[in-house]
Amino acid sequence: MSHYHITSKEQYKQAYQESVENPEEFWSSIAENFQWNKKWDTVLNFDFSKPEINWFQGAKLNITENCIDRHLFERGNKTALLFEPNNPSEGAEHITYQQLHDRVCKMANVLKNQGIKKGDRVCLYLPMIPELAISVLACARIGAIHTVVFAGFSASALAARILDCDCTLVITSDGAFRGSKTIDLKGIVDKALKDCPDVKTILVAKRIYAEITLTEGRDYWLQPLLDKAETICKPEVMDAEDPLFILYTSGSTGKPKGMVHTTAGYMVYSAFTFKNVFQYEEEDVYWCTADIGWITGHSYIVYGPLANGATSVMFEGVPSHPDYGRFWDIVEKHKVNQFYTAPTAIRALAKQGAKWPKSYDLSSLKVLGTVGEPINEEAWHWYDEQIGKGNCPIVDTWWQTENGGILITSLPGITRQIPTYATLPMPGIQPCLMDEKGEEITTTEASGKLCIKFPWPSIARTIWGNHDRYRDTYFSAFKNKYFTGDGALRNAEGLYRITGRVDDVIIVSGHNLGTAPIEDAIDEHPNVSESAIVGFPHDIKGNALYGFVTLVDGEGSEKLKKEINNLISEKIGPIAKLDKIQFTEGLPKTRSGKIMRRILRKIASNETDSLGDISTLLNPEVVENIIKERLS
Ligand code: PRX
Repeated sequence: MSHYHITSKEQYKQAYQESVENPEEFWSSIAENFQWNKKWDTVLNFDFSKPEINWFQGAKLNITENCIDRHLFERGNKTALLFEPNNPSEGAEHITYQQLHDRVCKMANVLKNQGIKKGDRVCLYLPMIPELAISVLACARIGAIHTVVFAGFSASALAARILDCDCTLVITSDGAFRGSKTIDLKGIVDKALKDCPDVKTILVAKRIYAEITLTEGRDYWLQPLLDKAETICKPEVMDAEDPLFILYTSGSTGKPKGMVHTTAGYMVYSAFTFKNVFQYEEEDVYWCTADIGWITGHSYIVYGPLANGATSVMFEGVPSHPDYGRFWDIVEKHKVNQFYTAPTAIRALAKQGAKWPKSYDLSSLKVLGTVGEPINEEAWHWYDEQIGKGNCPIVDTWWQTENGGILITSLPGITRQIPTYATLPMPGIQPCLMDEKGEEITTTEASGKLCIKFPWPSIARTIWGNHDRYRDTYFSAFKNKYFTGDGALRNAEGLYRITGRVDDVIIVSGHNLGTAPIEDAIDEHPNVSESAIVGFPHDIKGNALYGFVTLVDGEGSEKLKKEINNLISEKIGPIAKLDKIQFTEGLPKTRSGKIMRRILRKIASNETDSLGDISTLLNPEVVENIIKERLS
């Protein structure tokens, strides 16, 4: 029996049990709901020690046939993407499945005409405009591997990603609207490409009608090429395990990791979770506020919804423009049924008061979702009361870029919800908690490091160009287990609450930031000798960044702080800027010279009473001064 759509607690329990007892049968029954050129020979082969993971091996398919073509007969005139622009007076654009088909095919033909073929890497650096979703799908149509870079990243962060996976073509725009501002995306691309000699082509979508320069023989306006292209493009037949996309995520050390997701397993899992976590029904309008530059946008704006024939809203703007009622205005206007956002947005909107949501009709809402970081109780209740009016279940969905889809969540109206608890694993997901000695904790009520014991279809298969790093990061801390990097606790009923990262990744406004690349950026300042970044609690952002900096020479100043933040903006992007910078004489270090971030974290969070034993430090004397000069 297929459990593709779970509608009761009993069904959830049964599906979960089957998925653990007989995973191959379970997932093949789910996979039967899709269109295949050829079905699989084996459902699953895996070995976590290598690690090697193959799902649906031998199967052949194209994900865009599943996301677009197979809906054309019944849903040709249904809205697939509902584009809501930055400026409300511009009016929304409804793109039907038929129109999406034609536009994706045209874009795919443009890429082909530029010489892009199966396996080539294409970088998308675009605002949240239809061309972004269309380019994603056009790459998938021809088997090119897309790598979307969030358009808030700087030129050097963009260049690093382009170089890491050898992209040869970039799609961008003449600029982006962001609230009342515009951003010069093409200028950023031009700067990035100074370091990327292998990029042969830039295609430029027109969005803000800015005057930009096109480099002859390399840069082309996109629209004239689209105008000439055919509306039919035969889908490339892909193997189940052919890469679909690369998406970069921060690590605690080193450069960003290009997580590689493959075709069949990703499709099956993102579609299955979309259907069940949001309980999407045929006439519903679904809206996820994420950017397609992040995994949430990949799985739950583009692939998951479209694989289910859904109407997916794509919003270009920000929650505060033209005013703080913008989200609720969109919900009212498009009668949104499922709404999926991040705790940082909820906190920022809650701060503006209930008058904003109260001014709009939110009665269409059925399910509310949250993702990206732990949601605090206060924000959860505000969301529940002011937005859901006490009537909408909230799904607190825990997952990661590496996972491809939601792993732990409640099912709305079906399984239990408790504020701040992600609650239960999706079918196919086998979480466990590990103790300090590396043993699995068998008691139900416990806290520890969160691992997953068994593969699911959309787990990333490798890090682009660095399989050893993939193994070391995720599969070496605990034998035969995927280590998430998160800590969690499990209550007496077996429900999970995610408590946060246990490594040097800090989640700021829902964005994953590694400390190492930020420290590297700061250390490039000629007057900086050393730096250490830690997170501290922040009312809206969840966490904010606190930097401790030692200088080569002289005293710290406001000017120096500005220079440091400018460097970070330039090397990574404004999202990684520091809220506080404290100049210190030294940083606390272990005898082997490692910076003790644990102590700095406590100081930044004003928990100096519980520093623990600092006498074993190489330089305990610096701690007192750091505490004295702490920035409040
Ligand atoms: O720490 C967890 C946190 O976000 C991390 C993954 O970040 P990223 O790869 O950027 O993906 C975010 C969107 C899928 C996790 O390791 N996180 C994500 N969702 C939750 C969460 N923490 C608590 N509760 C959540 N619902």
